[in-house]
Amino acid sequence: MPSFRSDLDGIPVYRPGKPIDEVSRELGIAEIVKLASNEWPLEPFPEVQQAVADAMVDMNRYPENSVYHLVNGLAEYLDVPTDHIWMGAGSTELILAMALAMGGPGTSFVFSDPSFVMYPIAAAISGAEGIAVPSTPDLGHDLQAMLTSVRPDSSVVFVCNPNNPTGTYLPIADVERFIAAVPDATLVVVDEAYFEFATASDYGTAVPEALARDNVVVTRTFSKVFGLAGLRVGYAIGKPDTLGRLRRAQVPFSVNSAAQAGALAALSCGDRLEARVVDNEAARTQLEAGLAARRVEYVPSQTNFVLFRPAQDPAVLSDSLLRHGVIVRPMGPFVRATVGTGAENDKLLEALDAV
Ligand SMILES: Cc1ncc(COP(=O)(O)O)c(C=O)c1O
Repeated sequence: MPSFRSDLDGIPVYRPGKPIDEVSRELGIAEIVKLASNEWPLEPFPEVQQAVADAMVDMNRYPENSVYHLVNGLAEYLDVPTDHIWMGAGSTELILAMALAMGGPGTSFVFSDPSFVMYPIAAAISGAEGIAVPSTPDLGHDLQAMLTSVRPDSSVVFVCNPNNPTGTYLPIADVERFIAAVPDATLVVVDEAYFEFATASDYGTAVPEALARDNVVVTRTFSKVFGLAGLRVGYAIGKPDTLGRLRRAQVPFSVNSAAQAGALAALSCGDRLEARVVDNEAARTQLEAGLAARRVEYVPSQTNFVLFRPAQDPAVLSDSLLRHGVIVRPMGPFVRATVGTGAENDKLLEALDAV
């Protein structure tokens, strides 16, 4: 056997939601609804599909490493300068690159628990110690406890807003106060993967903080409201010097040509994106009302998923739902279900009744 890293077995394994084809093959069920990975339930806009198809003829060439056209499109879309944007193969790649650039033995990363599973994984891959700070009783980030958990060796603190898997959010004023209190030597990564779905009046983006401070980076993704999870495109916003340093730990050419073309085309579908946010809110309300009607306790969500506490064992329940053709994700004492189309939500609620 080759000599693997001695701490390799301590790295938590990322467990993705089961793919539809796999469940279909294993259980012999034709009609499967996947509500396990917080994806957009409908296929990409026709312009996006066309742009990806058009990009295929150049696949003999490497993509533009600078992601030139997409960065320019995003800069306009977000109204931020191009040199404040960093692209990656999903925000997951950026989180890992940040971990490699900031971590290593003798460092620590602070994050809320439960939160996005990539934070402890990225910490462990880099060799940093993960400091998981228990959430508040209502499953939000305990910012005060997170602040006191930041040590002199803490090089990164993750704030997930809105948070996966709880669906909770932090008012922007709280995030700003937190950022102001974190030492300059600690990078604050505000993960806004679900930013577009949040409609609470006191929710807001930390992008202005990222534009103003060397130690703040905001991450976002094309995998959620843009509906391009399969293309793998995410981005970070921050100061050029900070992004330049972080980028050193990134694989070259990670955003492929099809991804660059598809994401750029998606940016021009602005009005339909707004409609998606409205549709998501209506479908989420339907799902939450369905859970409430069944006396299932759920966490009010600002995202495209809902976390609920079933009466049954979550793993057993998820397995039973799978047999009814619905893929959800058990998470500790909870189950997380992505908001689907109206029909998909109905199928989940009917399956819940059946099991
Ligand atoms: C909080 C959070 N951040 C980041 C991501 C990563 O998204 P992607 O790598 O697809 O951009 C996810 C995906 O589910 C997420 O939930």
